[in-house]
Amino acid sequence: MAKVVLENIYKSFQKGAGTRQESGHAYQTNAHPTAVLRNINLTVGDGEFMVLVGPSGCGKSTLLRLLAGLEELTGGNIYVGDRLVNELPPKERDIAMVFQNYALYPHMSVYDNLAFGLRRTGGKNQEPQVRNQKTAAQASGNLPLWAENLLIETTRQLPKGLRYQSEREKGIDQRVRAIAQILQIEGLLNRLPKQLSGGQKQRVALGRAMARNPQVFLMDEPLSNLDAKLRAETRSQIVKLQRQLGTTTVYVTHDQTEAMTMGDRIAVMNAGQIQQLATPLEIYNHPANLFVAEFIGSPPMNFLPVQFKAPLLITYDQFRLTLPAVWESVLQSYDGRKLTLGIRPEHLSVGVPAPKNLHVKVELVEALGSETYLSVRLVGSPMTRPVMLQARIEPDRPVSIGEEMWLAIAQDKIHLFDPDSGLAIAAGSSF
Ligand SMILES: Nc1ncnc2c1ncn2[C@@H]1O[C@H](COP(=O)(O)OP(=O)(O)OP(=O)(O)O)[C@@H](O)[C@H]1O
Ligand SMILES: [Mg+2]
Repeated sequence: MAKVVLENIYKSFQKGAGTRQESGHAYQTNAHPTAVLRNINLTVGDGEFMVLVGPSGCGKSTLLRLLAGLEELTGGNIYVGDRLVNELPPKERDIAMVFQNYALYPHMSVYDNLAFGLRRTGGKNQEPQVRNQKTAAQASGNLPLWAENLLIETTRQLPKGLRYQSEREKGIDQRVRAIAQILQIEGLLNRLPKQLSGGQKQRVALGRAMARNPQVFLMDEPLSNLDAKLRAETRSQIVKLQRQLGTTTVYVTHDQTEAMTMGDRIAVMNAGQIQQLATPLEIYNHPANLFVAEFIGSPPMNFLPVQFKAPLLITYDQFRLTLPAVWESVLQSYDGRKLTLGIRPEHLSVGVPAPKNLHVKVELVEALGSETYLSVRLVGSPMTRPVMLQARIEPDRPVSIGEEMWLAIAQDKIHLFDPDSGLAIAAGSSF
């Protein structure tokens, strides 16, 4: 297993190159490089499960492709274990990748797709405990790998007793079946990829990468084709398998639940840069800036532009709230300035009419059974630019559209941001 270090990674693509037609003439236009990754520094610990999240186009797949060796670096260094791999071709990096658009070998059965990587490496990447104990040649009675593979292929269709099976092939068989069991594709082993549904193909692609037991797994939205139930199941299977194997993993997703539940740590990316790198709960409870605060959490955090008056008063129109004392020292320099107040939907609750509560009018009610989400407009916010908020309330509280109510803020859950820099202001000691 191995630690992965990304050091000052830059990547730009040439964009805009080509010819332009104008008045019957063809003009050569200049290509100009566009930076899609800027100054990425990231260390993924040995055996760690790292999740990359960020909006479409922020550079997640590009970063994985650089790691796998499928794209060339513009700048920076990539280390896998102690090896600098910048110049190494993909197959020498000992990395397995599951793509957004998986590709299986169409002429091979599911079984052979799973076994393919293991056969190609001569069985070197079998179960961790048998790794390095036998070379391929020792394990197979000194037959060269090509001859052995030929024997396996040609005898595969014969009755069981007549099939060629070396020690190495027995090891591969064990591993293929174990992975197939975990991913619930045992019943599909004899089928061809064209006989599988999209979700089944995706699990086979996942299994093929896992069967190889590489030093590093890279996974790019590997569950995107699965329905909700299978997605949840496969999510926990991947995590379980990753923990068992202890393989360093970098996993790309759009899905909030995947990011929060799978990762040891999450790197939140935007526009080619890492915005925050921390454990899921740290990111949820202490987002470093407005981007992370809005991106992580569903429905997202609410924001309200407020005026601050030292020592602890924030106001917006008729709303007046005295902040908890822990904010006093960090807010000294903001006296008389504007702040952005952030509060998550679950930290609002129906309260009594009072200046410290938010006076709102309900515009939309989404009753999910287990909880109810309200979209509300802040009374007093300008009609041209209404401040909209979302609140999660108890499911048994009846609410109707158009109703006015007062929402109380859980004061120990308040976030404050500098509206100019967008950076979070960290509260004092007890937070
Ligand atoms: N080969 C290429 N040539 C030019 N631009 C590219 C190339 N590959 C990617 N890009 C650009 O790089 C940026 C990052 O793309 P990337 O595929 O890494 O995004 P992503 O975060 O994986 O997005 P998604 O969530 O939609 O998969 C995009 O603006 C994309 O248009
Ligand atoms: Mg992508």
